[in-house]
Amino acid sequence: MNFIKKLTIFTFIAFVYFQCSKKPEMSSYDEQGQQVEVLDSATLQAMDNFEKFCSSCHGEQMMAFADRKWKHGKEKDSIYASIKNGYADAGMPSWEASFSDKEINNLVNYILKGIENVERYGFQEVKLESDTFETELVKFSLDTIVSGMTNPWGMTFLPSGEMLVTERSGELYKVDGNGNKEKVSGVPKVMYKGQGGLLDVELHPDFENNKWLYLSYSDYRVEDGDTLSGTAVSRYKFEDNKLTDGEKIFEGHPYSTKRHHYGSRLQFDQEGYLYFSVGDRGNRDENPQSLESYCGKIHRIMDDGSIPADNPFAGQEGKAASVFSYGHRNPQGVAMNQETGKIWEHEHGPRGGDEVNIINKGLNYGWPVISYGINYDGTTFTDKLEADGMQQPVLYWVPSIAPSGMTFVNSDIYPDWKGDLLVGSLRFKYLNRCKIVGDKIVEEEIMMKNIGRVRNVKIGPQGYIYVAVEKPGFVYRLMPIYKES
Ligand code: HEC
Repeated sequence: MNFIKKLTIFTFIAFVYFQCSKKPEMSSYDEQGQQVEVLDSATLQAMDNFEKFCSSCHGEQMMAFADRKWKHGKEKDSIYASIKNGYADAGMPSWEASFSDKEINNLVNYILKGIENVERYGFQEVKLESDTFETELVKFSLDTIVSGMTNPWGMTFLPSGEMLVTERSGELYKVDGNGNKEKVSGVPKVMYKGQGGLLDVELHPDFENNKWLYLSYSDYRVEDGDTLSGTAVSRYKFEDNKLTDGEKIFEGHPYSTKRHHYGSRLQFDQEGYLYFSVGDRGNRDENPQSLESYCGKIHRIMDDGSIPADNPFAGQEGKAASVFSYGHRNPQGVAMNQETGKIWEHEHGPRGGDEVNIINKGLNYGWPVISYGINYDGTTFTDKLEADGMQQPVLYWVPSIAPSGMTFVNSDIYPDWKGDLLVGSLRFKYLNRCKIVGDKIVEEEIMMKNIGRVRNVKIGPQGYIYVAVEKPGFVYRLMPIYKES
């Protein structure tokens, strides 16, 4: 197999950008006699506010704004209006109550100054100096398996060893060992807006014989002139690069005009049940704690979409029969620990409070009644960290790392990592390794810093780890470099 060896990521030099986005007022000297910039108070305030209130969604140092296709206008007034009013349905909070007009104006100027500098200095292609990473226990290099994508979201592997990968905009690709992508036909129409699109892909445990393939996505319909969307799961036969016999086996009601928190990871367990996550759809107060609502839940269904008779709320009046656990926010990681057979999930918190949980039948994981996070605007929505009848996470992250994708290392290719849990960080662009003892996380290691926004991590058929990053989208394979003895 002839994999492309060179790792290339497009970014611009954050340092140059960061420096240039500052507005020098006067110069001063530090202890080493170096000239340093002293920033005016308005810029300092904006930088501080940006880091505290905006970077969790828009990225550190305004990266997202610099190469953004502006939707609501990049004129001063438009940016001002965007910040002030927000776009609740798209997941952009309103900042009217948090900031004075002056503070909003400072933010607008800070953003405009940043864009001006990027336009002046342009984007730079930065090659990582090396595609070799030395971590605490394992040294490895990266093979680029897939390139030329934007948002590789879901991935899984065919018995042939070929990879299936979803592009969030609505394509499913089959990728061969040389990195050639072939489009699979017959995928559903998806709502490609906000966080929506074609999301996860999973094969039936007996795919070799029955050819069933499962997709999760943001489904939509028009009602009274409004386009409503929600997380759905469909099942298909997959043969000859075609999806046929499609059947929607799950709809996550209530559908809404919001375009975020679809959740959406699919995972079979050892007994053949299909688990998957649905986010709270941005309706924190009505969805996650309501057993009538399908949102803010982990669901469990049979492979044909029917309900297991022993599901916790099956047959109960007014309760969603597919619900397995509730009180979740936006879980973008669901994986089975092969050692114990237990299902683990992680979910995005608001500002702080991302969680890792072990999912048990019928239990309440507390969102939004208990949480280690606070609102994006710095206000609190609960002062409770724990409550009777609500589960504590195995681990939580403050500040948020924005986790996406997770897998347990079950192969012998990386013996020192065997049994560990890997979690991607969108926000800080690294892979997190969690050392597991029993049902506990006892240690964490940050690996591959700055590799890109990690969207997914999976183990392939030969036991190799595959990591998908987005914007630009690549899938890498981690090739261990064994020490010579
Ligand atoms: C919870 C996540 C989140 C946070 C926090 C957040 N934003 Fe946003 N923001 C979004 C999303 C999502 C959009 C896209 C809205 C849309 O698609 O209509 C957006 C859009 C915007 C836009 C309009 C961009 C365009 O394309 O026209 C601006 C300007 C903006 N945000 C500024 C800010 C600033 C400044 C802050 C901090 C005070 C902030 N945002 C905090 C999620 C967030």
